[in-house]
Formats: sequence, C-alpha cells, structure tokens
Amino acid sequence: MAEEQKLFKVKIDGITVEVAPGTTILNAARQIGGDIVPPAMCYYSKLQGSGGKCRTCLVKVSKGSEADPRPMPKLVASCRTTVMDGMEVANITSPEVLEARKGVVEFLLLNHPLDCPVCDQAGECHLQDLGYEHGAEATRYEFKRRTFDKVDLGDKIQLHMTRCILCYRCVFTADQVAGNREHGVLGRGEHAEISTYLSKNLSSPFIGNVIDVCPVGALTDKTFRFKNRVWFLKPVNAHRDCDNPKCCGKTVLWMRGDEVFRVTARKDKYGEVEDFICDTCRFDKKEAKDWVIEGPRKIERQSVISANHYVGVNKPKDTLVEVLDGRQPKLLMDIHSISQVNRPNIDLSQIEGPAHSDDFNK
Ligand code: SF4
Ligand code: SF4
Ligand code: FES
Repeated sequence: MAEEQKLFKVKIDGITVEVAPGTTILNAARQIGGDIVPPAMCYYSKLQGSGGKCRTCLVKVSKGSEADPRPMPKLVASCRTTVMDGMEVANITSPEVLEARKGVVEFLLLNHPLDCPVCDQAGECHLQDLGYEHGAEATRYEFKRRTFDKVDLGDKIQLHMTRCILCYRCVFTADQVAGNREHGVLGRGEHAEISTYLSKNLSSPFIGNVIDVCPVGALTDKTFRFKNRVWFLKPVNAHRDCDNPKCCGKTVLWMRGDEVFRVTARKDKYGEVEDFICDTCRFDKKEAKDWVIEGPRKIERQSVISANHYVGVNKPKDTLVEVLDGRQPKLLMDIHSISQVNRPNIDLSQIEGPAHSDDFNK
C-alpha cells in the first residue's frame, strides 16, 4: 500500500490549513480563500515558471517552521515560497505587509497612464482593483512618464506598452500555450518592453490567449476595442464543436441582445482562465448561431460586471394602477422612435474598428 503523504500544517493570518509539501504560501492561502489570499499580478497557476516578478503577493513569515521557528528576515513573495511544517504567515494582519504592498502598487503605477476611462480592460482590470484595495491616494513621482506608440501584434491584437506591468504572463503563454514564442521582454529596467522579434507578427492559432492572461489593458482584442464597455454586456456560457483538438471550445460570449461583442475563455475567481481557447473561436465566431448557449455566466471575481444584478428582490407595489382605479397605464412615449442610439437595425459588433456617431446616422 502506498505510504500516506504527510501534510504540512501552516497558519495564515491565524487560520490553519494542511497542504501537501511543495505547495506555495499563495496556493495554501487560496485553499483557505477569502480576504487573506494575497493579490497576484504575475503568478498564473496554468503557466509554468510564472510568478516572482510583480511583488504584490509579499507576505511576512513570522515563524519559519516547527523545526526552525526563526522568522524570515525579509518579506517574501508568497507565489514563490513553499510552505514548511508549522510555518506561520501574516498577510492582511501585518501592517508591514500592507505598507510594503502600497509601495509596490505605487511602483507599478509609476509609469502607468490615466487611461481607465478609455481602456478596454476597465471593469475587469486587476490593476484597478489592486490600486483601489491596496494603493496610496497619490503618487510621489514627479518625472515624465515613459510612453510608447501602440503596436499591432498581428491583425487581431494591439499592444499598449504604456499600460504593461511586465508580468511576463503573455511571454509564458506564447511559449507554453501558443507553442510559438515570437515575442519577449527586450531591454532591462526603465527600458524593458514587450516586443516582437524583428517586428514579426504573432501567428500561432492560440496567440489570442495572451489577451486573456494579461492582467491589465496592455494587450487588447482589436475585434472588440471601443465597441462597448464590459459592464453593459451580458456574459453567457457557450460551447461549440471546435475542429482544433487542443481547443476546449468552451467560452464566454459577451452579448448585448443577440449581438456577440467578444468571445473569451472562462475565468475563475482569481481571474485565471479555466481552459485556453483557439483564435477561431475567439475572433471568427461572432454570431450567436455559431454557438450552443448554455446560460448566464456568473462572474466569480468581484467586478463591476456583477454589480446591479438584483436577485430575490420583491417588486414594489405598482401604485399607478391603483391611482388610476385599476386601469392599465398607457405607454406615454415610445423612445425607440426618437432615439438614434436605439435603432433596432444597427449591429455594433459588425462595425470595423471603433463605433463613431456617423454609424448611428447611416
Ligand atoms: S490597464 Fe487597468 S488601470 Fe490601466 S488604464 Fe486600463 S483599466 Fe486603467
Ligand atoms: S503585455 Fe500584459 S501579459 Fe504581457 S507582460 Fe505586459 S502586462 Fe503582462
Ligand atoms: S504574484 Fe508573486 S511576485 Fe507576482
């Protein structure tokens, strides 16, 4: 009979969990769940070698192990540090960690533009959440921010290097999922940037996954850019029989009425994709009839997308009917006959590039 594996006991913010040896502190915290899970901007459980770049997951190890209870001298990256038996870790209970994380956020935002109002990632951006939950009120940086021109990586993906936080997730994705690495981080320090080798286009049929793994709006879907804000769309689970054997064919369609505005992979509560999808499903199947629709998708990660969905509420009593002695009120004004925006025939998802006011006046 196989010998039973001894589990390590680790305490994180006072909560004890037993995990297999080799588990990182971050993954042990994820087994507990809730607020004590450190934020992770570069670690991605589906990508080997990821983590250790952004430092947002810093924690304090106040007791190294049962055998050697000395605390670790410095804060450590929880995505890269494995647990020891008897280890004690402080995350949100340590003011030192919270202060350090505030500094990390300030660094991540040193060169970041104030693009949120026009950025396609807004509403599902991990950096927005991080800034809101852990950031300082203002930056102390007084120098000019570095800027880059927008670059097309192939005909479906656009890179806004000014928004990149150099997490390397897209590089690992191109390497491990798309199997065809044609880009990487060139330069170091202030000069580091994501770039394609000799301006090559990215050609793999799985390269669109870099958009999903990017925690910010640095890599955007050109078939969706400026078409809509995510919080106006309804996410639904859908699937199709995809010819590509490596593609799971299980996606989320972002719809408004019958229009499919974009197609993404399904993501879990940590914002990581459950399974990667191919570019045909992502970019070329933009009609509801291409898909078998399963039903509404619950967005597990806290997001503005999940806000304002009223469930289990009691509808208020309709007093107007009572006031009118039981007569049904008539429709006072048919807005659709007046508003250009509500023209029923316009199909925004089919317009090439961003939608302009002209599109509504055709
Ligand atoms: S990447 Fe996020 S934080 Fe940056 S501009 Fe876009 S939405 Fe705002
Ligand atoms: S482009 Fe996005 S995924 Fe790639 S390194 Fe920059 S932030 Fe990370
Ligand atoms: S998530 Fe740990 S260093 Fe980035």
